[in-house]
Amino acid sequence: MLKLEGVFGGYGGATVLRDVSFSAAAAEVTCVMGRNGVGKTTLMRAIMGLVRAEKGSIQLDRLEIANLPAHEVPRHGIGYVPQGRRLFGPLTVAENLEIGLMTRGRGHAVRESVLDLFPRLRERLGQVSATLSGGEQQMLAIARALCLEPKLLLLDEPTEGLQPSMIAAIRDVVVGLKAAGVAVVLVEQRVEAVLGMADRVAFMDHGQVVETVARQGLDAKSPLFRQYVGV
Ligand SMILES: Nc1ncnc2c1ncn2[C@@H]1O[C@H](COP(=O)(O)OP(=O)(O)OP(=O)(O)O)[C@@H](O)[C@H]1O
Ligand SMILES: [Mg+2]
Repeated sequence: MLKLEGVFGGYGGATVLRDVSFSAAAAEVTCVMGRNGVGKTTLMRAIMGLVRAEKGSIQLDRLEIANLPAHEVPRHGIGYVPQGRRLFGPLTVAENLEIGLMTRGRGHAVRESVLDLFPRLRERLGQVSATLSGGEQQMLAIARALCLEPKLLLLDEPTEGLQPSMIAAIRDVVVGLKAAGVAVVLVEQRVEAVLGMADRVAFMDHGQVVETVARQGLDAKSPLFRQYVGV
């Protein structure tokens, strides 16, 4: 599904990604772990074309996407939920979902199936997004990404700062997407969450994916967590 080879990239003169190789498969959850600042978010942004890959290859179903303008990347079926508080500005919930639907020409049926996953958003369709709670904003960010009917979904620490019921709701969505054949890439720092959801875990350090391990090869005491995440 997704395959990166030898990717370099960064900001201005500062190279962050140094020779990254990484892959994600359909119907699998691939978790990305690593300490603060190792380049996890930069990797997501490189896939989305928001950080230019100066070297290397990024392929989606064998299509080279590394040189696409950022606005074209989602049209190929990649949904992205960025890290941190999103600023939705003055648009309503419904208008935000409409933007997601328009990206790939999806309509009423997709909108309904997404809203079925997030009943709280259905109750707030007319509400200005900026006035949603943090958890509701995260739901909206995920819902908007799902309006693309993505084949690949990138989630960058989606549960950061959320209460357990919201975390559980997001987890259910991830499990459902995997069952539906979507390739999910999840940046996640909580070991229990990773062990509960991942099929494979990619550990990053110093701008590289240094090890990729199958879930079966990991448990809560695995030294890789201590080495690369510091827990
Ligand atoms: N817009 C930017 N301009 C310049 N440097 C940046 C920019 N964004 C990130 N960086 C730098 O790139 C490096 C990697 O940052 P990145 O956000 O990818 O890390 P991360 O692994 O996602 O960290 P965290 O766990 O804290 O989210 C850091 O040194 C950071 O300071
Ligand atoms: Mg980050």
